[in-house]
Amino acid sequence: MDTDQPLLVAAGVRKTYRTGSVAITALHDIDLVVRHGELVAVMGPSGSGKTTLLNCLSGLDDIDGGRVLIAGHDLFAMTDAARTEHRARTMGFVFQAFNLIPVFSAVENVELPLLLVGVRPHEARRRALDMLDRVGLGHRVGHRPSEMSGGEQQRVTIARALAGRPAIVWADEPTGNLDSAMADQVMDLLCELNRDEGQTIVLVTHDSMIGDRAPRLIRMRDGRLVEDLHRTPRTRRAPADVPSG
Ligand SMILES: Nc1ncnc2c1ncn2[C@@H]1O[C@H](COP(=O)(O)OP(=O)(O)O)[C@@H](O)[C@H]1O
Ligand SMILES: [Mg+2]
Repeated sequence: MDTDQPLLVAAGVRKTYRTGSVAITALHDIDLVVRHGELVAVMGPSGSGKTTLLNCLSGLDDIDGGRVLIAGHDLFAMTDAARTEHRARTMGFVFQAFNLIPVFSAVENVELPLLLVGVRPHEARRRALDMLDRVGLGHRVGHRPSEMSGGEQQRVTIARALAGRPAIVWADEPTGNLDSAMADQVMDLLCELNRDEGQTIVLVTHDSMIGDRAPRLIRMRDGRLVEDLHRTPRTRRAPADVPSG
């Protein structure tokens, strides 16, 4: 993949939801460029359009205007099948609800998407075990989701998102279901994957303790990007912010 060319280019992206006679424009002409190796946090109040932005830029949802290029490919110029294929090949997803399969062990959850895209079972197992080790769960590979903490379950979903070696990982409120200590650990992991392996990550959060740790912070309001800051991130929540017990 050509890493000089921006990984993501969004131009004039517009999204309007229509329910009956009511139309809500959730995204107003969004322009955004994300380069390889960036960790971008998108923050904004509830209803500001964060989830819609993520779903539209990743091609999970349709748009009503504009263009989205991922690695030079125009997402909405493709057929649905090609877009699904492109997504499976280039993108990983982490959601607030972990969406793990309850009857599967950690390693089975991580290898499933690999098997679905045709990776051979032996190779899929090897990669899944590697990724679980990478996220610090080498000792939990046989556990089912119900046998793990929320923070551990979210780390399994991160391993699952990364196992296909995606160019970009999208994360919608990845720490939304976690207490602040576990949220910090999950954010530690995302920061580390970005810093050490150059993994490109775009995450959406309403938690400023999480957003403030990203090297690039974009603020949304009423379906618009209202601020775009590149800075030296804070490394950790201040000790006083961590609840005791
Ligand atoms: N499927 C939908 N149908 C109609 N309106 C929606 C739908 N999803 C989101 N919206 C509206 O779009 C706006 C942005 O929502 P959303 O992207 O979920 O915001 P956020 O993730 O920042 O909370 C809100 O006004 C919301 O009510
Ligand atoms: Mg949301």
